[in-house]
Amino acid sequence: METQIAGVKLTNPVCNASGPRDTTFEELQYIAHTESSVIVMKSCTINPREGNPEPRYKKTEYGSIQAMGLPNLGYHEYIKYAHILRAYDKPIMASVAGINIEDYAIIVQSFQSNNDVDLIEINLSCPNAGKSIIGYDLASMEEVLKQISKLGCIPIGLKLPAYYDDRYFEKVTDLVLKYNISFISCINSIGNTLCIDIDTESPVISPQEGFGGLSGHYIKPVAIANVRRFYRLLQGRVSIFGVGGVSSGKDVFEYILMGADAVQIGTAFQEEGEYAFQRILFEFEFILKKKGYKTIADFKGNLKYQ
Ligand code: DHB
Repeated sequence: METQIAGVKLTNPVCNASGPRDTTFEELQYIAHTESSVIVMKSCTINPREGNPEPRYKKTEYGSIQAMGLPNLGYHEYIKYAHILRAYDKPIMASVAGINIEDYAIIVQSFQSNNDVDLIEINLSCPNAGKSIIGYDLASMEEVLKQISKLGCIPIGLKLPAYYDDRYFEKVTDLVLKYNISFISCINSIGNTLCIDIDTESPVISPQEGFGGLSGHYIKPVAIANVRRFYRLLQGRVSIFGVGGVSSGKDVFEYILMGADAVQIGTAFQEEGEYAFQRILFEFEFILKKKGYKTIADFKGNLKYQ
C-alpha cells in the first residue's frame, strides 16, 4: 500500500483533502489518529478569518457544495500545530492560501524556516476568496511561483483548479517544470456552481447568492481527466495527488490507474469521519487482491486504450 509524494513516504495512498474537519488543533489531532496517511491542514491565510455566514456547506445528492470563505486560524497557528503534531510520526502537509499575491511568499517562507511540515500545498484555486482564481490567470500564477519556489527545501505542490482547455494543460505543465514544483493536486472544487432546493425555491447555501464550489461524485470525471492529462504531460517528473469525488476503493483504483500517486478525500471524510479512510482502504485492498496486484506501481498510470 506504500506510495510516495515528492519523495515523502506515505504508508497508504489515502489522506484527507484540505478543507473538511482540519481547521482546529483538535480536528488535526483527530486526523492524526485515523488511517489518513498524511495530516493535511486547512488552507491558511496571513490573518485569521471567520469565513462566510451559515449555511455555507451542504451535502447534496451527488456530492456537496460550499462557500466556506476560507475560515482559518491564520498561518501562525498552523505553524505551532505542525510542531506539536510532529509527535505522531505522520507526514504533515500545510495548505497555503493568499488573499493577495504577496501573501504566499510570506506564509511559505515561514513554513520553510520552521521545518515542521513535510509538504507545502499552494492553493491556487480557492473559488471563494472573493478574487478570481489564480490558477486561471497564468501571469499571476507565474508571479506566485517566482516568489515561492526558492524559499527552502520542503517540497512545494500546487492545488490546481479544473482545466478544460488543452492550452492550459500545456502552459501549466511548463510552469510546473520551470519552477521545480514537486507535486500537483488535481482538482479543487469546481467554482461558480449552484444547487437549488425546489421546496424553498432557494440555493442550498446562503453566501454569494448560493454560488459555491462543487465537490464529490459530480466532479470525479473532470478530476480524473485532469490527473490523466497532467500525468501524460509530466511523464513522472512530478508526483500527483488525485482529488475529487473519492468515496470508494474503486475511485482510488481509478485515480491511480490515471497516474495519481495518492488521493485526497474531502466530501466523504466530511460526511463519514474516520470511517471513510478505513472503508475506502479496505475496498481498495480488496480490488488489488482480486486483480492480483501487489503494489501500486503494478498498475499506476497503466490505463489501457481500446
Ligand atoms: C475554501 C474553498 C476551497 O475550495 C478552497 O480551495 C479553499 C478554501 C473556502 O471557501 O474556505
